[in-house]
Amino acid sequence: MTFLALDSIAVPDIHPQAPLVTRKARLSDIEAIHELIGYWAARGQMLVRSRSLLAETIRDFHLVLAEAHEGKPGGLAGVCGLHLLAPDLAEVRGLAIHPHMQGRGLGKQLVEACEREARDIALPALFAWTYQQAFFEKCGFVRIDKTHLHPKVWSECQRCAFFENCNEIAMLRELT
Ligand SMILES: CC(C)(COP(=O)(O)OP(=O)(O)OC[C@H]1O[C@@H](n2cnc3c(N)ncnc32)[C@H](O)[C@@H]1OP(=O)(O)O)[C@@H](O)C(=O)NCCC(=O)NCCS
Repeated sequence: MTFLALDSIAVPDIHPQAPLVTRKARLSDIEAIHELIGYWAARGQMLVRSRSLLAETIRDFHLVLAEAHEGKPGGLAGVCGLHLLAPDLAEVRGLAIHPHMQGRGLGKQLVEACEREARDIALPALFAWTYQQAFFEKCGFVRIDKTHLHPKVWSECQRCAFFENCNEIAMLRELT
């Protein structure tokens, strides 16, 4: 198996034209999710997630998987989680697309899968922390003022290295 290596963190190579399947995550997917999130976390794009945290929250995650194609093995093309924070709010978190699969609509597709799940349980709003404001705007989110946030949105911040000096953007999508 070949690896895409930038810095010290790599992800397994997958064929960009491979057929794709979508499904909810399983415990057996933890290693691949950890690897893909770790790839972007190493590049300062998102917060790293431990295997144990992924195991605790595995039911949150939607996946897009690439099948084996033209001699390249299959693998994880994208992941995104919907995490309930409160009866009226859930966070879209852990969104990561394989570097060979960016710009093909997979990120939006995964956020929409989270949105459908949120609507199924009558959640009125989705929240996200991000550096990717333009992407989330395409998904119907709007930037909101960090000073008036629900206290639960800070739940992961204390384990972040940038807690004291955070420049992530807070974004909200009303579902009503
Ligand atoms: C940001 C990320 C999730 C976007 O996923 P993607 O599959 O590449 O994006 P999509 O192809 O679904 O793009 C959907 C729309 O957003 C736009 N878009 C995507 N990334 C964008 C960016 N960085 N800046 C501006 N627009 C962007 C696309 O042009 C597209 O617009 P369209 O609907 O008008 O065609 C992905 O690039 C990624 O994993 N990045 C690294 C990790 C990361 O930043 N995760 C987010 C943590 S909150």
